[in-house]
Amino acid sequence: MALNPVITESPIQTPLTDLSEQVVSSRLASVEELLHTLPEGHNQLLQETISNLVDAGGKRIRPSICLNVAGMLDISGEPAVPLAAGIEMLHTATLVHDDLIDGADTRRGVQTLNSQLTSHMTVLVGDYMFARAANLVAQTDNVAVMDLFAETLMVILNGEIDQQFTRWQLDEDTYYRRIYAKTAAMFVLSARAPGLLKGLDQRRLKRLDEFGRCLGLAFQIVDDILDYNGDNKKTGKPVGGDLKQGLVTLPLILYSYQNPDDELVAGVLTEHSRDPAVIEELIARVRNSGAVYAALDEARRYAKNASDLLQVFPDTTYRNNLQALCRHAVEREI
Ligand code: IPE
Ligand code: IPE
Ligand code: MG
Ligand code: MG
Repeated sequence: MALNPVITESPIQTPLTDLSEQVVSSRLASVEELLHTLPEGHNQLLQETISNLVDAGGKRIRPSICLNVAGMLDISGEPAVPLAAGIEMLHTATLVHDDLIDGADTRRGVQTLNSQLTSHMTVLVGDYMFARAANLVAQTDNVAVMDLFAETLMVILNGEIDQQFTRWQLDEDTYYRRIYAKTAAMFVLSARAPGLLKGLDQRRLKRLDEFGRCLGLAFQIVDDILDYNGDNKKTGKPVGGDLKQGLVTLPLILYSYQNPDDELVAGVLTEHSRDPAVIEELIARVRNSGAVYAALDEARRYAKNASDLLQVFPDTTYRNNLQALCRHAVEREI
């Protein structure tokens, strides 16, 4: 998949003070508060469950993108904070349903909801969180932002359903479509929504989309690499979990290009030998091959492109934070 070339544009200038760091951390603290707040009188179980999910951790990448883009565009905290909180709530809701679908026991080092509650209750809590996410985003009072929120959720769900039909398929285009839907689309939402609030022109909105898309793809490729070579104590997920579920990711795709005659690839993908020991052996071969480095190079190219796309925006601490996020996305171990 080709990277889009960087278009040269003259920088736009917005007057900004240098209080950026404090602004972002105080806005992030307000986001945390909103994530814990539910309307008066709503069920105690919801209150406790959602608070526990939020307190279990999470890197808060999406709200950080949203708040730093908002800061870079000189948008006030009033719409930016509930927007960032709504996006993080949306992300957390997708994880609740995802863990139920994937039968995962732990997430962020703690027990998943589906391992503590019935499936019915897990679905309902997830649904409530989707509604709360929309409710928070609606506080922006901006129909274009609400529309983008709804479209993003449709893309994510469409991707999740497509994924059920593309298991054991080794195809690079299918892979990129899948990771766009499950990860990059929400990064696009996080970057574009503040641009919509600011009323940016189409060209700059497209640039924010492309920033979100490239950073999201880089982030997910690294997630997929960590599934092969990560330390499960750090990632909190079992090594090789993706392939065991039939999810073919970039390391295996690149391994198959580099080793076209490896009989295990064909065997595992065509159901001739889907024995767990054979899958383990294939995972080990991929992990010990150059494919992992090749995949990391691909992620680095996307992250670099994401970072370069921001060059036309004002040179502020907010922009530096976003560019640091691009670097961190491909250096992370969790
Ligand atoms: C997990 O996202 C799901 C993916 C898209 C890989 P994160 O890695 O951002 O999860 P948290 O919020 O930090 O737990
Ligand atoms: C999680 O997908 C992302 C969404 C539900 C949108 P995965 O199932 O691939 O991610 P992890 O490995 O559980 O975090
Ligand atoms: Mg999943
Ligand atoms: Mg999962």
